[in-house]
Amino acid sequence: MRQILVAGNWKLNGSRDSIEQLISGITAGVENTGDTQIAVCPPFVYIPLVAERLAGSKVAWGSQDISDQSAGAFTGEVAGAMLNDFNCKYAIVGHSERRSLYAEDDDFTARKFAAARKAGLIPILCVGETLQEREQGVTEAVVARQLDAVINLEGVAALGEAVIAYEPVWAIGTGKTASPQQAQDVHAFIRGKLAGLNVGVADKVQILYGGSVKGANAAELFAKADIDGGLIGGASLDAAEFLAICSAGA
Ligand code: PGA
Repeated sequence: MRQILVAGNWKLNGSRDSIEQLISGITAGVENTGDTQIAVCPPFVYIPLVAERLAGSKVAWGSQDISDQSAGAFTGEVAGAMLNDFNCKYAIVGHSERRSLYAEDDDFTARKFAAARKAGLIPILCVGETLQEREQGVTEAVVARQLDAVINLEGVAALGEAVIAYEPVWAIGTGKTASPQQAQDVHAFIRGKLAGLNVGVADKVQILYGGSVKGANAAELFAKADIDGGLIGGASLDAAEFLAICSAGA
């Protein structure tokens, strides 16, 4: 039985108070989530707080981004070893907001993926097409290109120890979820592409779906053969909603 992973991406949200409350709400209901793996990714400055509150619980934590550099004159950056100091398990790389709003391209994303691995973190590599690309029929080509940048730099085996999040850009924060079948089709494409290179990697890699996942649609998505969980934005800011999604994977 494959294990479902539900990761919350809090983006640029929260305060000390609201995060304390969110964590209390999540930990209070976590025993009803079966063997679903759970993680939350707060803004960098709240990682120490989250690490302290979640230590010893079944909920892991990670970062929303990571520097491609390990140390030096890189103002504003946060390195993998620093995240390691606070026991982060995951680091999201290549989120579509980083790609589109901060001009982070495939090669830069691949270097961040490498930096996460070097620090012993599990990268959550986000891939996905825009609405225009979907309408042009190039979804698979876009996702393949995004994966190839990582495969060319780190080798396909590296993906066996990573998480991939398929997040169609048109479904992020829009309330427009990809249908379970639309998501499954792309997930199957990703797994098939990896299987063509290394069957073991294709079997092992967790492929999450992200884009307007909520309690009401999570079970249907997670029931698909190649959907191994979700990367959750908006709904991860509400403890009850987030727990409902986690329970849908149980
Ligand atoms: P959403 O965001 O769940 O708010 O659509 C998902 C994401 O961007 O990771």
